[in-house]
This record gives sequence, C-alpha cells and structure tokens, in this order.
Amino acid sequence: MQKKIGVYPGSFDPLHSGHLDLILRSRQLFDEVVVAVLRNTAKKDSMFTVEERVEMLGEVLAPYPDVKVDGFSGLLVDYLAARNARTIIRGLRAVSDFDYELQMTGMNRHLAPQVETIFLTPKEEFSYLSSRLIKEVYRLGGDCRGLVPDAILARLPPRS
Ligand code: PNS
Repeated sequence: MQKKIGVYPGSFDPLHSGHLDLILRSRQLFDEVVVAVLRNTAKKDSMFTVEERVEMLGEVLAPYPDVKVDGFSGLLVDYLAARNARTIIRGLRAVSDFDYELQMTGMNRHLAPQVETIFLTPKEEFSYLSSRLIKEVYRLGGDCRGLVPDAILARLPPRS
C-alpha cells in the first residue's frame, strides 16, 4: 500500500512549540510527515536563513524517524507532486488565521484539485504563539523559555 504522506509547509522562522505540537499530532495521522520550509520567501525580518532553519528542525525532530525536514521553492502543490503527497497540513490557532488559510486552500485546490488541506489546532496553551511575536519578544529582551523547543532557544542569536 502507498505510504500516506502529509506535508506541513511554513516559514518556521523560528520553529516554536505550537509548530512542534502540530507536527507530533500529525504523526498520528500519516505514515510520514514532511516539514517543508519555504525557500523563496520575500519576508524581511528573518532571524534564520532557510539552511539554518532546516538544520535546526532536523535537530529537534531527529527522535522521530517518520518526520522528514526539507526546503522547497516554487509552488507548494508542485512540491507535493514531487514527493508523491496529497495532503497539506496547516495549523489554525484562532479565527483570525481563517481568511488567509481559506484563500491558500482555495488557490491550492484550484491548482491541484486532488490535494486536500487539513487543519489541526494546537494545544490551547500554544494558541497565542507565532514566530513573529516570538522574534519581537526575544529581540526586546523577553523570556522565550517554553515558547520554542530548547534546541531552538539555544540557537537564538545574540541580542543586539
Ligand atoms: O508559515 P507561513 O509563512 O504562513 O507559510 C506559508 C506557506 C509556506 C504555506 C505559503 O506561503 C506557501 O505555500 N508558499 C509557496 C508558494 C505557493 O504555492 N503559493 C500559491 C498557493 S497559496
């Protein structure tokens, strides 16, 4: 039988505890989970390069042989086709995520009708987490313990 592969795409700059929670939940649904880091990002304000993110994710996820980490560029649906996957995994924290997610899901369905997007919700205690806020809090001297996995905490750059 064909392996069921779920692709969890994102920027992961940096990976936070809500992302990790979602990845671990996804493992219960798929034979293999691919965490796919977007390469062609136009986002300014990055904390880590894509190579660093892939490396850090690899470190955090090393205990889970069914979870693979990869970088991708171009269209997400083309990446899924190349990996022989048909499911996109996304997280929904709050209603405010919904508009953006619905647009992406619609566009991806237009491009590749065979691809389904599923949404998982993180543990409530992580529902306020975002990479953007974590970067802001960290840069302003806030305590990020528990917000990101310890291996990521150890890699946060010196504050200027
Ligand atoms: O964590 P993010 O930044 O919200 O993730 C966004 C991501 C990577 C899922 C999205 O930007 C994406 O899929 N980019 C790839 C380009 C693409 O396929 N665009 C058209 C479909 S929306």
